[in-house]
Amino acid sequence: MTKGKVDALLGIVFGDEGKGKVVDVFTPRYDVVARFAGGPNAGHTIIFEGKKFVLRSIPSGIFDEGKLNIIGNGCVIAPDLFMAEAQELESAGYDLRSRLHISKRAHLILPTHRVLDRAFEAAKGKNAVGTTGKGIGPTYSEKASRTGLRVGDILENFEAKYAALKARHEQQLRDLHYTDYDITEEEQRWLQGVEYMKNFQLTDSEAEINHLLDEGKSVLAEGAQGTMLDIDHGTYPFVSSSSTTTGGVCTGLGVGPNRIGEVFGIFKAYSTRVGAGPFPVELFDETGDRLREIGHEYGAVTGRNRRCGWIDLVALKYAIMVNGVTQLVMMKSDVLDGFDTIRACIAYEKDGQTTTEMPYDTEGWKAVYKDIKGWKQDLTAITSEAQFPQAFSDYIAFLEAELKTPITILSVGPDRAQTIMR
Ligand code: GDP
Ligand code: IMO
Ligand code: MG
Repeated sequence: MTKGKVDALLGIVFGDEGKGKVVDVFTPRYDVVARFAGGPNAGHTIIFEGKKFVLRSIPSGIFDEGKLNIIGNGCVIAPDLFMAEAQELESAGYDLRSRLHISKRAHLILPTHRVLDRAFEAAKGKNAVGTTGKGIGPTYSEKASRTGLRVGDILENFEAKYAALKARHEQQLRDLHYTDYDITEEEQRWLQGVEYMKNFQLTDSEAEINHLLDEGKSVLAEGAQGTMLDIDHGTYPFVSSSSTTTGGVCTGLGVGPNRIGEVFGIFKAYSTRVGAGPFPVELFDETGDRLREIGHEYGAVTGRNRRCGWIDLVALKYAIMVNGVTQLVMMKSDVLDGFDTIRACIAYEKDGQTTTEMPYDTEGWKAVYKDIKGWKQDLTAITSEAQFPQAFSDYIAFLEAELKTPITILSVGPDRAQTIMR
């Protein structure tokens, strides 16, 4: 944490690295926690004192009284889902209204955006992305085509603006011959959500953040998704629709690059991916099943099976490069506790060609592995580096040498307490 700076905590692979957990652990060090991209496609799990929460749109700093949480301009927000999420936290005793600000420039996900998401996926057939169905793609597309509605729009003449956009969507859906849908109930809840949002401070959060930084306050930018799902740098077109990388922190919060301090890149000790798209390290055998089972690798948003494989150093090096990662955070090391041998993908291979750099077209590449001795010891109760088994220390040293970046935080279990700072 540096006063007057924005530190970023970014998922640097395919999402679900454990961002929620680490943001929650980091929050006491910061004055402000802000989301800068994505929307309810995110599912960030936080576990402490026997309680478990899965956050979608609300930043993971929300549990710490006295910290300001901001949903930034780069985010997209679904009022009905936001209301459900916020009410759950309120009924658990967290006073959100004093701690949460929402940028007036964040874009609104309409119920018809979600229908369009389904319609576009259906039209893609076997090339479907496997989206979360939350309307993310259609909402960001509309933002880019300058026809979207923003949070600030709910404050004035909203009904007419909503009706006009909804009518456009309905026409689009007719054009796609996608007419078998009914949003009556959903729309009712959505409109209630719009009213509910008016209880919150809808702000020019970009100016607010900059003023706070000028006063020497510190900000933690909470990433959503991961680098390989970034609209520019991910495995396009099998990506999400926002900038999930460090550049997205600047545009998604309205801060200059000179405001960025540390960039924490978070990854798991192995790999997962939800949805379609290239995944060279994917294991289709019982080892993949074992990783899924032990790591509970089922989507926090959709419940889908996460595809599993060994760690991918090609992807990690690439992500460290495009984000300017300064420190690494390794999660879920404990999931590998029982393995005799652990593998790390050190290159990709296709048609006799080998590369250690992320290729333009990641389709069809096979992973080249290096075998590493497992530590075969329970890590979950470990509280300091001094207790690390030698083979675990060796794995960390190997990764640091390959990635040329220090691993400063290690997670050995889902609970807030199971975190080791080095
Ligand atoms: P996020 O989207 O990046 O916030 O990650 P998710 O919450 O979608 O997925 C991470 C999952 O791993 C959650 O179920 C966490 O409770 C769990 N988790 C986080 N860190 C650890 C860890 O070190 N060990 C284990 N076993 N589970 C962890
Ligand atoms: P967190 O923040 C993992 C994936 C979807 C799909 C693709 C596009 O919890 O890490 P979208 O609905 O965004 O248009 O889907 O991106 N995806 C995620 N995968 N974690 C996430 O978020 C994801 N958000 C989107 O599965 O392949
Ligand atoms: Mg998640």
